[in-house]
Amino acid sequence: MELNDRNPWQRKAARAWGILCLAVCLPVGSEARNVCLSTPNTSLVLDVEQGEEPKYVYYGRSLSPLDVENIGYVRNCDQPAYPAYGLDCPYEAAFAVRHSDGNLSTQLEVCAMEEKDTGEARTLSIRMKDKVYDFYVTLYYKAYRDVDIIEAWSSFRNEEKGEVVLGQFASAYLPVRRGDVWLSRLYGAWANEARLVQEPLRPGMEVIQNKDGVRNSHTAHAEVMFSLDGRPQEDNGRVIGAALCYGGNYKLRVNTDESEYHHFFAGINEDRSSWHLGRGEDFTTPPLALTFSSEGLGQASRNFHRWGRKYKLAHGDRERKILLNSWEGVYFKINEEGMEAMMSDIAAMGGELFVMDDGWFGGKYSRNSDKTSLGDWVTDRRKLPGGVGKLLREAEKRGIKFGIWIEPEMTNTRSELYEKHPDWIVQAPGREPVTGRGGTQLVLDLSNPDVQDYVFGVVDGLMTKYPGIDYIKWDANMGILNHGSHYLEGNRQSHLYIAYHCGFEAVCRRIREKYPDLTLQACAQGGGRANYGVLPYFDEFWVSDNTDALQRIYMQWGTSYFFPAMAMASHISAAPNHQTFRTVPLKFRIDVAMSGRLGMEIQPKDMTEEEKEMCRRAIADYKTIRPVVQKGDLYRLLSPYEGLGAASLMYVSQDKAEAVFYWWKTEHFMNQHLPRVRMSGLDAEKNYRIRELNRIDNQPLPYEGKVVSGAFLMANGLELPYVHQVERNRKNAYSSRVIYLEDAGD
Ligand code: GLA
Repeated sequence: MELNDRNPWQRKAARAWGILCLAVCLPVGSEARNVCLSTPNTSLVLDVEQGEEPKYVYYGRSLSPLDVENIGYVRNCDQPAYPAYGLDCPYEAAFAVRHSDGNLSTQLEVCAMEEKDTGEARTLSIRMKDKVYDFYVTLYYKAYRDVDIIEAWSSFRNEEKGEVVLGQFASAYLPVRRGDVWLSRLYGAWANEARLVQEPLRPGMEVIQNKDGVRNSHTAHAEVMFSLDGRPQEDNGRVIGAALCYGGNYKLRVNTDESEYHHFFAGINEDRSSWHLGRGEDFTTPPLALTFSSEGLGQASRNFHRWGRKYKLAHGDRERKILLNSWEGVYFKINEEGMEAMMSDIAAMGGELFVMDDGWFGGKYSRNSDKTSLGDWVTDRRKLPGGVGKLLREAEKRGIKFGIWIEPEMTNTRSELYEKHPDWIVQAPGREPVTGRGGTQLVLDLSNPDVQDYVFGVVDGLMTKYPGIDYIKWDANMGILNHGSHYLEGNRQSHLYIAYHCGFEAVCRRIREKYPDLTLQACAQGGGRANYGVLPYFDEFWVSDNTDALQRIYMQWGTSYFFPAMAMASHISAAPNHQTFRTVPLKFRIDVAMSGRLGMEIQPKDMTEEEKEMCRRAIADYKTIRPVVQKGDLYRLLSPYEGLGAASLMYVSQDKAEAVFYWWKTEHFMNQHLPRVRMSGLDAEKNYRIRELNRIDNQPLPYEGKVVSGAFLMANGLELPYVHQVERNRKNAYSSRVIYLEDAGD
């Protein structure tokens, strides 16, 4: 198997090496030397010496040249930069291989170091060789010039006589000095994604991992934050944040052993994924993005968001459209009249895009449920006689864009695709496949180049026929439940999980090359694809299939630790909610949805004129605040996880001239006492005019239209009424506020 054609990271590395060879090659002296990589506010220091194992020295706040020179003496850290297995065996390793002759040990020494400056970042590569074998490991550290992120990854090259098997291959390792270190991480389940958990690190091994094969963020997440100074705080204390940029199975390990360190390893999950590296072949791991903040979790999040918007998300500089998605409105009951009516409704409310969800396709088998037709991506003319072309024309008439749902990595046992290509599915050799959604769903084997061509063809076919399609919701409703590939050779079956993701990325890259302007949403049965591995190809992700506004506050809070609001699809849906059956008033549903990428997921036909008018006003206001929400800095003010009865956050524009403040009551008791929320991130010197958005109260707030200084708002906040002043028959248990602040000048 020609590995260079299959593994995008390998290709990336090959390209990188090509460039690095042209770059200045720094001689590595025989003296120990500290190499310092810096971002605007952080520094990473390594001790790199020819013929020695490189050592980690420091990661934290920026260092002066003097500090860099002497840090080795004052810090006293002698951890390897990338611990290899085989000598000092009892310790956890980042890297373990079986050499071509069966030897399980590796001993790495530095043989070269190179630096490449690309303008946006400086990338250091440290090339190491095994002391005995012709096996090479290179560590990369990419420090961005204008955001506080350093990406770290590794690559391997086998020049031995035979095949080497990679058993453990972390992207990076970082020792975190013990003390009162707390870990913040996300956990969850379908319809309850991205729940936040924060706990002190204790002796022993903490493992955060995923083995789904396709989706990797329904349950645990591949991103964490370490608060180094005790209980995590939003605005204070040192924090190291880490996000593995990978869409497949991952494993993050934090080993707290008898040493002075918590040993943090992050990379592809090696379980059932050992990789056979033939002579002359390379393997490159996905990057681990690291950030450091001296101002608590909040600054660490803002660092990730800025980097995400500028360097990771597709179109991170572009504002997202306000859309209506058909799913919760009609489910599989798609027809022309219904789609056109929904388009008219969203256009009338000021929306900019309509997305036709599942149920529009099928040839021999109609897609009326989740049991059939995946793979048969032809318009079901029984439902849509005028086809997608007609819908596009109707959208255009209404002045909106059109989007469509697909799930191209999957098929059903009842589909023409499966009948034609039974060998394209992921299947354990010689066994009946375990099926997924609907009892009939199967995953296509993306390690197979023919399947990759087919999946690319699904998008390419649609876009060629209907170039007007503006948006694709790309879904993935099943994990790998069967280990086996008809394509991979018998002794390469352990490549399946990784090869699947290489194939997926290869397809995504082709799509992006050909359709750079297309908007893509990563949906995976809700929030299964919220990760920085897929975001370079996708503009956003669906946070959860659960659209209940109250529960969304918790999920979007967790998600906001790592991902910017512009990537978080957040929709106004029906009451009672279709997942929790909770009846949340429209005001509250709007106020929550407006804190992310606003959309609607509802049947407008079932809404009253008054409700539609409320949405119309909210959409108009969202257009005003959209640049602040989607491109501004996030400040989390009051966590729903604190259980204090309310939650609050705000976005502040980069120039601090505008801000949007959100407050949602999470519990309702009579005569309760809620904390007054102090604002954050404003310019103390500026004066802000206060305007409430989405007001339902009969009377405006006492400070409506008044001007208050940023200093006051940050020191004291605003007193918010706990309930809405409305007629008795309109009262309910919910209360929320959205307040827009605008620089009023002097
Ligand atoms: C998944 C998605 C939903 C919807 C359905 C359609 O569950 O998460 O948003 O698109 O599939 O079948």
